[in-house]
Amino acid sequence: MKISGLNTPALVLDINILKANAEAMKSILENTSLKLRPHYKSHKCASIAKWQIKNGAIGMTCAKLSEAEDLCDVGIEDILIANQIVEPAKIRRLADLANNCRLTVCVDSIENVNALSAAAKNCGSTIHCFVEYDIGMQRCGVVENEEVLALAKHILSSDNLEFDGIQAYAGHISHVEDIADRKKMTVENYDKLKKLLSYLEENGIDVKTVSGGSTGTAEIKALEGLYTELQAGSYLFMDATYRNLSLPFKNSLFILTTVVSQRDGLTVVDAGVKTCGVDQGMPAPYVGSTDEIVASEEHFQLHGYTEKTSVGEKMYLVPAHCCSTVNLHDKIYLVDGDTVVDRIPITAKGIGR
Ligand SMILES: Cc1ncc(COP(=O)(O)O)c(C=O)c1O
Repeated sequence: MKISGLNTPALVLDINILKANAEAMKSILENTSLKLRPHYKSHKCASIAKWQIKNGAIGMTCAKLSEAEDLCDVGIEDILIANQIVEPAKIRRLADLANNCRLTVCVDSIENVNALSAAAKNCGSTIHCFVEYDIGMQRCGVVENEEVLALAKHILSSDNLEFDGIQAYAGHISHVEDIADRKKMTVENYDKLKKLLSYLEENGIDVKTVSGGSTGTAEIKALEGLYTELQAGSYLFMDATYRNLSLPFKNSLFILTTVVSQRDGLTVVDAGVKTCGVDQGMPAPYVGSTDEIVASEEHFQLHGYTEKTSVGEKMYLVPAHCCSTVNLHDKIYLVDGDTVVDRIPITAKGIGR
Protein backbone atom coordinates (compact mmCIF):
# COMPACT_ATOMS: atom_id res chain seq x y z
CA MET A 1 0.00 0.00 0.00
CA LYS A 2 1.14 3.55 -0.68
CA ILE A 3 1.32 6.04 2.21
CA SER A 4 -1.45 8.02 0.53
CA GLY A 5 -3.80 5.07 1.22
CA LEU A 6 -3.47 5.36 5.02
CA ASN A 7 -6.34 6.77 7.03
CA THR A 8 -5.24 9.79 9.03
CA PRO A 9 -4.06 10.85 11.51
CA ALA A 10 -1.46 8.08 11.50
CA LEU A 11 1.96 7.78 13.10
CA VAL A 12 4.49 7.00 10.39
CA LEU A 13 8.12 5.93 10.69
CA ASP A 14 10.58 6.14 7.82
CA ILE A 15 12.69 2.99 8.25
CA ASN A 16 15.58 4.23 6.12
CA ILE A 17 15.99 7.39 8.22
CA LEU A 18 15.61 5.28 11.38
CA LYS A 19 18.46 3.00 10.27
CA ALA A 20 20.62 6.01 9.33
CA ASN A 21 20.04 7.48 12.82
CA ALA A 22 21.09 4.19 14.42
CA GLU A 23 24.25 4.20 12.26
CA ALA A 24 24.99 7.83 13.21
CA MET A 25 24.82 6.89 16.90
CA LYS A 26 27.06 3.89 16.25
CA SER A 27 29.71 6.17 14.68
CA ILE A 28 29.54 8.59 17.64
CA LEU A 29 30.16 5.77 20.11
CA GLU A 30 32.73 3.84 18.06
CA ASN A 31 36.13 3.69 19.79
CA THR A 32 34.81 5.36 22.95
CA SER A 33 34.27 3.86 26.38
CA LEU A 34 30.59 4.80 26.22
CA LYS A 35 28.02 2.03 25.67
CA LEU A 36 24.47 2.59 24.47
CA ARG A 37 21.61 1.84 26.86
CA PRO A 38 18.78 3.49 24.89
CA HIS A 39 15.72 4.93 26.58
CA TYR A 40 12.49 3.01 25.95
CA LYS A 41 10.22 5.98 26.64
CA SER A 42 10.98 7.44 23.20
CA HIS A 43 9.44 4.60 21.17
CA LYS A 44 7.76 2.20 23.63
CA CYS A 45 7.86 -0.54 20.98
CA ALA A 46 9.13 -3.94 22.12
CA SER A 47 10.16 -4.82 18.56
CA ILE A 48 12.37 -1.70 18.27
CA ALA A 49 13.95 -2.44 21.68
CA LYS A 50 14.82 -5.97 20.51
CA TRP A 51 16.31 -4.52 17.31
CA GLN A 52 18.42 -2.05 19.34
CA ILE A 53 19.78 -4.89 21.51
CA LYS A 54 20.51 -7.00 18.41
CA ASN A 55 22.44 -4.03 17.05
CA GLY A 56 24.71 -3.58 20.05
CA ALA A 57 22.80 -1.85 22.87
CA ILE A 58 23.93 -3.31 26.21
CA GLY A 59 20.43 -3.15 27.70
CA MET A 60 17.46 -0.79 27.88
CA THR A 61 16.67 2.24 30.03
CA CYS A 62 13.04 2.92 30.92
CA ALA A 63 11.14 5.37 33.09
CA LYS A 64 8.40 3.16 34.54
CA LEU A 65 8.11 -0.22 36.21
CA SER A 66 5.38 -1.18 33.73
CA GLU A 67 7.78 -0.40 30.86
CA ALA A 68 10.39 -2.66 32.49
CA GLU A 69 7.77 -5.43 32.71
CA ASP A 70 6.92 -4.93 29.03
CA LEU A 71 10.61 -5.23 28.09
CA CYS A 72 11.18 -8.29 30.26
CA ASP A 73 8.13 -9.92 28.67
CA VAL A 74 9.87 -9.99 25.28
CA GLY A 75 13.16 -11.28 26.64
CA ILE A 76 15.19 -8.12 27.25
CA GLU A 77 17.62 -9.26 29.91
CA ASP A 78 19.25 -6.09 31.22
CA ILE A 79 16.90 -3.26 32.22
CA LEU A 80 17.44 0.02 34.04
CA ILE A 81 14.54 1.92 35.57
CA ALA A 82 16.02 5.42 35.60
CA ASN A 83 13.74 6.49 38.44
CA GLN A 84 12.86 5.86 42.07
CA ILE A 85 10.20 3.22 42.84
CA VAL A 86 8.76 3.96 46.27
CA GLU A 87 5.20 2.64 46.59
CA PRO A 88 5.13 -0.65 48.57
CA ALA A 89 2.99 -2.50 45.99
CA LYS A 90 5.34 -1.44 43.20
CA ILE A 91 8.42 -2.40 45.22
CA ARG A 92 6.94 -5.92 45.54
CA ARG A 93 6.41 -6.03 41.73
CA LEU A 94 9.95 -4.73 41.21
CA ALA A 95 11.48 -7.37 43.49
CA ASP A 96 9.53 -10.05 41.66
CA LEU A 97 10.58 -8.76 38.24
CA ALA A 98 14.22 -8.91 39.39
CA ASN A 99 13.87 -12.71 39.43
CA ASN A 100 13.38 -12.63 35.65
CA CYS A 101 15.97 -10.14 34.40
CA ARG A 102 18.96 -8.12 35.54
CA LEU A 103 17.13 -5.14 36.95
CA THR A 104 18.65 -1.85 38.10
CA VAL A 105 16.78 0.98 39.80
CA CYS A 106 17.78 4.44 41.01
CA VAL A 107 17.70 5.37 44.69
CA ASP A 108 18.11 8.63 46.58
CA SER A 109 17.00 7.77 50.12
CA ILE A 110 18.01 5.33 52.87
CA GLU A 111 14.33 4.43 53.51
CA ASN A 112 13.91 3.38 49.88
CA VAL A 113 17.08 1.27 50.04
CA ASN A 114 15.71 -0.49 53.15
CA ALA A 115 12.35 -1.17 51.46
CA LEU A 116 14.01 -2.54 48.30
CA SER A 117 16.29 -4.79 50.33
CA ALA A 118 13.41 -6.23 52.39
CA ALA A 119 11.28 -6.91 49.29
CA ALA A 120 14.14 -8.53 47.37
CA LYS A 121 15.01 -10.70 50.38
CA ASN A 122 11.39 -11.76 50.66
CA CYS A 123 11.23 -13.06 47.10
CA GLY A 124 14.82 -14.20 46.79
CA SER A 125 15.89 -11.78 44.07
CA THR A 126 18.77 -9.34 43.67
CA ILE A 127 18.09 -5.71 42.81
CA HIS A 128 20.91 -3.65 41.33
CA CYS A 129 21.03 -0.01 42.45
CA PHE A 130 22.37 3.25 41.10
CA VAL A 131 22.61 6.14 43.51
CA GLU A 132 21.08 9.07 41.65
CA TYR A 133 23.30 12.14 41.78
CA ASP A 134 21.53 15.43 40.97
CA ILE A 135 24.01 17.01 38.62
CA GLY A 136 21.93 20.17 38.18
CA MET A 137 18.56 19.15 36.78
CA GLN A 138 16.89 19.49 40.18
CA ARG A 139 14.63 16.51 39.61
CA CYS A 140 15.50 13.43 41.66
CA GLY A 141 18.78 12.52 43.32
CA VAL A 142 21.06 13.69 46.09
CA VAL A 143 23.32 16.73 45.79
CA GLU A 144 26.19 16.29 48.24
CA ASN A 145 29.09 13.87 47.73
CA GLU A 146 28.69 12.74 51.35
CA GLU A 147 25.08 11.73 50.67
CA VAL A 148 26.13 9.65 47.65
CA LEU A 149 28.78 7.94 49.80
CA ALA A 150 26.33 7.20 52.63
CA LEU A 151 23.82 5.69 50.20
CA ALA A 152 26.48 3.61 48.41
CA LYS A 153 27.74 2.25 51.75
CA HIS A 154 24.20 1.49 52.86
CA ILE A 155 23.43 -0.42 49.65
CA LEU A 156 26.68 -2.37 50.00
CA SER A 157 25.69 -3.46 53.49
CA SER A 158 22.08 -4.34 52.56
CA ASP A 159 20.87 -7.86 51.82
CA ASN A 160 19.87 -8.75 48.24
CA LEU A 161 21.06 -5.44 46.78
CA GLU A 162 24.08 -4.70 44.57
CA PHE A 163 25.66 -1.26 44.32
CA ASP A 164 26.47 -0.80 40.61
CA GLY A 165 27.20 2.90 40.35
CA ILE A 166 25.79 6.35 39.73
CA GLN A 167 23.07 7.85 37.59
CA ALA A 168 23.86 11.48 36.74
CA TYR A 169 21.34 12.62 34.14
CA ALA A 170 21.73 16.24 33.03
CA GLY A 171 18.39 16.66 31.27
CA HIS A 172 18.52 20.45 31.62
CA ILE A 173 21.36 20.52 29.10
CA SER A 174 19.92 18.26 26.39
CA HIS A 175 18.02 20.95 24.49
CA VAL A 176 20.35 23.93 24.91
CA GLU A 177 20.43 25.07 21.27
CA ASP A 178 23.89 26.58 21.09
CA ILE A 179 26.49 23.81 20.91
CA ALA A 180 29.11 26.00 22.63
CA ASP A 181 26.76 26.54 25.61
CA ARG A 182 25.83 22.85 25.65
CA LYS A 183 29.51 21.89 25.70
CA LYS A 184 30.35 24.45 28.40
CA MET A 185 27.60 23.15 30.69
CA THR A 186 28.65 19.54 30.07
CA VAL A 187 32.27 20.33 30.90
CA GLU A 188 31.16 22.02 34.17
CA ASN A 189 29.27 18.84 35.00
CA TYR A 190 32.33 16.78 34.10
CA ASP A 191 34.31 18.56 36.81
CA LYS A 192 31.60 18.00 39.43
CA LEU A 193 31.26 14.35 38.53
CA LYS A 194 35.02 13.81 38.47
CA LYS A 195 35.28 15.21 42.01
CA LEU A 196 32.47 12.91 43.15
CA LEU A 197 34.09 9.83 41.60
CA SER A 198 37.50 10.65 43.16
CA TYR A 199 35.83 11.16 46.54
CA LEU A 200 34.08 7.77 46.30
CA GLU A 201 37.31 6.07 45.24
CA GLU A 202 39.20 7.64 48.18
CA ASN A 203 36.52 6.17 50.42
CA GLY A 204 36.93 2.69 48.98
CA ILE A 205 33.79 2.63 46.83
CA ASP A 206 34.06 0.84 43.51
CA VAL A 207 31.85 2.59 40.93
CA LYS A 208 31.41 0.20 38.01
CA THR A 209 28.88 2.22 36.06
CA VAL A 210 28.08 5.89 35.46
CA SER A 211 24.85 6.25 33.50
CA GLY A 212 23.28 9.32 31.87
CA GLY A 213 23.45 11.47 28.76
CA SER A 214 20.91 12.10 26.03
CA THR A 215 20.46 12.62 22.31
CA GLY A 216 21.49 16.26 22.70
CA THR A 217 24.72 15.51 24.56
CA ALA A 218 25.74 12.22 22.88
CA GLU A 219 28.33 13.91 20.68
CA ILE A 220 30.00 15.89 23.45
CA LYS A 221 33.32 14.29 24.20
CA ALA A 222 33.20 15.34 27.84
CA LEU A 223 30.74 12.50 28.45
CA GLU A 224 33.47 10.11 27.51
CA GLY A 225 35.81 8.79 30.14
CA LEU A 226 33.50 9.39 33.10
CA TYR A 227 30.18 8.05 31.84
CA THR A 228 30.09 4.39 30.88
CA GLU A 229 26.48 4.30 29.60
CA LEU A 230 24.52 6.65 27.33
CA GLN A 231 20.76 6.73 27.90
CA ALA A 232 19.78 8.53 24.66
CA GLY A 233 16.22 7.93 23.50
CA SER A 234 15.06 10.43 20.87
CA TYR A 235 18.00 9.89 18.48
CA LEU A 236 16.08 7.22 16.53
CA PHE A 237 12.94 9.29 15.85
CA MET A 238 14.03 12.88 16.55
CA ASP A 239 11.42 15.64 16.76
CA ALA A 240 10.87 19.32 16.01
CA THR A 241 12.51 20.39 19.29
CA TYR A 242 15.73 18.46 18.67
CA ARG A 243 15.67 19.45 14.96
CA ASN A 244 17.01 22.93 15.82
CA LEU A 245 20.19 21.56 17.43
CA SER A 246 22.02 20.52 14.23
CA LEU A 247 22.58 16.99 15.50
CA PRO A 248 23.68 14.19 13.16
CA PHE A 249 20.20 12.61 13.38
CA LYS A 250 17.21 13.32 11.14
CA ASN A 251 13.45 13.27 11.66
CA SER A 252 12.11 9.78 10.98
CA LEU A 253 8.77 10.01 12.82
CA PHE A 254 5.82 11.90 11.38
CA ILE A 255 2.14 12.39 11.88
CA LEU A 256 0.45 11.88 8.57
CA THR A 257 -2.52 14.24 8.40
CA THR A 258 -5.14 15.26 5.85
CA VAL A 259 -6.03 18.86 5.05
CA VAL A 260 -9.71 19.10 5.99
CA SER A 261 -10.35 22.80 5.47
CA GLN A 262 -8.65 25.57 3.61
CA ARG A 263 -9.13 29.29 3.17
CA ASP A 264 -6.97 32.35 2.70
CA GLY A 265 -3.98 32.11 5.04
CA LEU A 266 -5.40 29.14 6.97
CA THR A 267 -4.84 25.41 6.49
CA VAL A 268 -6.58 23.04 8.90
CA VAL A 269 -5.47 19.38 9.32
CA ASP A 270 -7.14 16.43 11.04
CA ALA A 271 -4.62 15.91 13.85
CA GLY A 272 -4.62 17.74 17.17
CA VAL A 273 -3.49 17.28 20.75
CA LYS A 274 -5.13 13.84 20.96
CA THR A 275 -2.64 12.49 18.41
CA CYS A 276 0.39 14.75 18.85
CA GLY A 277 2.17 15.62 22.11
CA VAL A 278 2.36 19.38 22.61
CA ASP A 279 4.21 19.41 25.96
CA GLN A 280 7.29 20.82 24.20
CA GLY A 281 5.37 23.03 21.77
CA MET A 282 3.53 22.79 18.49
CA PRO A 283 4.46 20.35 15.72
CA ALA A 284 6.23 21.69 12.63
CA PRO A 285 5.26 21.00 9.03
CA TYR A 286 7.89 18.68 7.50
CA VAL A 287 7.92 20.81 4.37
CA GLY A 288 7.56 24.58 4.51
CA SER A 289 6.82 26.71 7.57
CA THR A 290 3.99 28.59 9.27
CA ASP A 291 3.56 31.88 11.10
CA GLU A 292 1.65 30.17 13.87
CA ILE A 293 -0.02 26.85 14.72
CA VAL A 294 -3.07 26.76 16.97
CA ALA A 295 -4.06 23.44 18.52
CA SER A 296 -7.32 21.89 19.57
CA GLU A 297 -8.30 18.28 20.30
CA GLU A 298 -8.66 17.06 16.74
CA HIS A 299 -7.24 19.94 14.67
CA PHE A 300 -4.11 21.94 14.10
CA GLN A 301 -4.79 25.31 12.44
CA LEU A 302 -1.78 26.35 10.38
CA HIS A 303 -1.73 30.11 9.90
CA GLY A 304 0.35 31.46 7.04
CA TYR A 305 1.52 28.05 5.84
CA THR A 306 4.05 28.67 3.08
CA GLU A 307 3.11 25.70 0.85
CA LYS A 308 0.13 25.47 -1.47
CA THR A 309 -2.33 22.84 -0.25
CA SER A 310 -5.84 21.73 -1.06
CA VAL A 311 -8.56 19.92 0.85
CA GLY A 312 -8.02 16.15 0.89
CA GLU A 313 -4.25 16.46 0.44
CA LYS A 314 -2.01 14.57 2.88
CA MET A 315 0.83 16.26 4.74
CA TYR A 316 3.46 15.30 7.31
CA LEU A 317 3.83 17.07 10.64
CA VAL A 318 6.93 16.58 12.79
CA PRO A 319 5.87 16.33 16.46
CA ALA A 320 7.63 18.75 18.81
CA HIS A 321 8.25 15.83 21.20
CA CYS A 322 8.46 12.25 19.93
CA CYS A 323 8.21 10.64 23.40
CA SER A 324 4.87 12.15 24.38
CA THR A 325 3.50 11.60 20.85
CA VAL A 326 4.10 7.83 20.68
CA ASN A 327 2.29 7.49 24.00
CA LEU A 328 -0.91 8.68 22.26
CA HIS A 329 -0.90 5.98 19.55
CA ASP A 330 -1.44 2.21 19.42
CA LYS A 331 0.69 1.55 16.38
CA ILE A 332 3.33 2.93 14.06
CA TYR A 333 3.27 2.42 10.29
CA LEU A 334 6.71 1.65 8.88
CA VAL A 335 7.36 3.15 5.47
CA ASP A 336 10.07 2.65 2.88
CA GLY A 337 9.97 5.53 0.40
CA ASP A 338 6.26 6.03 -0.34
CA THR A 339 5.28 2.42 0.49
CA VAL A 340 3.86 1.11 3.78
CA VAL A 341 5.86 -2.04 4.61
CA ASP A 342 4.68 -2.96 8.12
CA ARG A 343 2.75 -1.90 11.19
CA ILE A 344 4.15 -2.39 14.69
CA PRO A 345 2.34 -2.13 18.03
CA ILE A 346 3.40 0.46 20.62
CA THR A 347 3.43 -2.18 23.33
CA ALA A 348 4.03 0.20 26.25
CA LYS A 349 1.55 2.86 25.12
CA GLY A 350 -0.08 4.50 28.10
CA ILE A 351 1.31 2.05 30.68
CA GLY A 352 2.77 4.59 33.03
CA ARG A 353 2.58 2.72 36.33
C1 LIG B 1 16.59 9.60 32.81
C2 LIG B 1 16.67 9.98 31.37
N1 LIG B 1 17.70 9.56 30.65
C3 LIG B 1 17.86 9.89 29.37
C4 LIG B 1 16.93 10.69 28.72
C5 LIG B 1 17.29 11.08 27.33
O1 LIG B 1 16.36 11.20 26.42
P1 LIG B 1 16.57 11.91 25.00
O2 LIG B 1 17.74 11.29 24.37
O3 LIG B 1 15.29 11.52 24.36
O4 LIG B 1 16.70 13.38 25.21
C6 LIG B 1 15.81 11.15 29.42
C7 LIG B 1 14.82 12.03 28.80
O5 LIG B 1 13.87 12.52 29.35
C8 LIG B 1 15.67 10.80 30.80
O6 LIG B 1 14.64 11.23 31.54
